[in-house]
This record gives sequence, C-alpha cells and structure tokens, in this order.
Amino acid sequence: MGMDVPVIAIDGPSGSGKGTIARLLAERLGWQLLDSGAMYRVLGLAATRRDMALDDERALTELAQDLDVSFEVDEAGEQRVVLDGDDVSTAIRTEEAGNAASKVAVLPAVRKALLERQRAFRRAPGLVADGRDMGTVVFPDAPCKIYLTASVEERARRRYNQLNQQGLGGNLSALLKDIAERDRRDSSRSVAPLRPAEDATILDTTGIAVDEVLERVLEAAEARLRFEH
Ligand code: C5P
Repeated sequence: MGMDVPVIAIDGPSGSGKGTIARLLAERLGWQLLDSGAMYRVLGLAATRRDMALDDERALTELAQDLDVSFEVDEAGEQRVVLDGDDVSTAIRTEEAGNAASKVAVLPAVRKALLERQRAFRRAPGLVADGRDMGTVVFPDAPCKIYLTASVEERARRRYNQLNQQGLGGNLSALLKDIAERDRRDSSRSVAPLRPAEDATILDTTGIAVDEVLERVLEAAEARLRFEH
C-alpha cells in the first residue's frame, strides 16, 4: 500500500530527540506523522487499565488487534491520542506507560498485530515515521533513514525536562536508571531490536540544539530524496 509514497524513518533510543524532530520535520514538509511509540504506549496503558499481565502474548495480541485508538489533530495543531473515546495524550507519556510499552513491545505477535496499523499511515505526500524499527522492519524500503542517538545522561535530562513541562514530574536518577533499563530491553529483544538500519544516517545529538539537529536531518533527507528545503 502506498509504496510510492516517500518515507523518512527516524529511529533511535528514548530521549534521543526523535519525537520532537519527527514532529517538526512533518510540519515543515507538510507530511503525515507516525509516532509508533504512542501505539505501544496506548497498548501498555490499555493493558494496565484492564489489569492484564504484560507478558500474556495471546491476550495482548487480541487487545492490539481490537484496540479502539485514533490519532487526531486538535485546533492547536497538536496530535491527540484517543483510546476508547478517552483522550489519553498525557496519560501515555508517564514513565509507567513507557515501561509497560517496552514490555509489551518485546512480544513478536504483538509487534506483528501493530504492523499494518503503522503501515496505514503511509499516505501522500509523504510520511515521517518515528520509532525503533521504522527503517529496519516497518518501512525497510524508506528512501531516507535517520538514526538519532545521544548519551544516556543527556537523554535522561531531556526526559526530565519534558516530564516537568507536562506537569508529570520526575526524578533524574530514577529516569537515568529507567532509560538504561529500557535501552537494554529494546536492544536485546529477539524481534526488531533497536539498531540502526544498514543504510541509515547516524546522528549523535549530544549537546546539539533542536534547530541544528533539524537542519542536519533536513540536509540528509534532501540528499536522499532530492528536494530542497
Ligand atoms: O518512543 P517511546 O518512548 O514513546 O516508545 C515507548 C516504547 O515502545 C519503547 O521503549 C519501545 O520499547 C517501544 N517501541 C517499539 N518500537 C517502536 C516504537 C516504540 O518497540 N517502533
């Protein structure tokens, strides 16, 4: 479906800045945006709310298939995530939801169930897809693949600031531990582990401001997709 629609795949670990960069890039280009982490987060949240075991692959796969979730854009242009008619945009950003997401994300059948939902975002004029396996598994034919990374300390600091801005609060040393643990789980799982695609452009964003990262990503995209920004 939509194989001729260009995709910019942006992968990397938590806190590497890919969410922010993907959003800005999609805005700048007027393209669709897929926040695939939000799908895993919604599933983690839905499972937690139903008191399900986060390793029950069959039940979680069924839940993933039937999940009543939609991604909408509000008047302010912000993306809203709606689960069972309930706006969960903030609820899915907590560390608990992130940890639940990373647990359900290790289950192969769950990943498979979410695959087509993710591919359905590929619509004209183009798609910016943000995640862990966008370039390796979901859109392996993407003409442009970017892998963003940063030191664990910097990523924990960014997450801390982000949580504070959203009024969710956080503890820096707990976040550092969480992120390191999440990295370990995401990189060591057997299906779609976190790693750069062979043809990805790798960008270390430690100490680099958002504007500058966006500029570099646009340059890489321009070179691969032959457009000018
Ligand atoms: O990017 P974000 O922090 O929202 O992702 C939450 C979790 O969802 C990640 O830690 C990862 O385990 C999982 N995830 C994934 N594959 C993706 C996106 C997210 O496994 N494409």
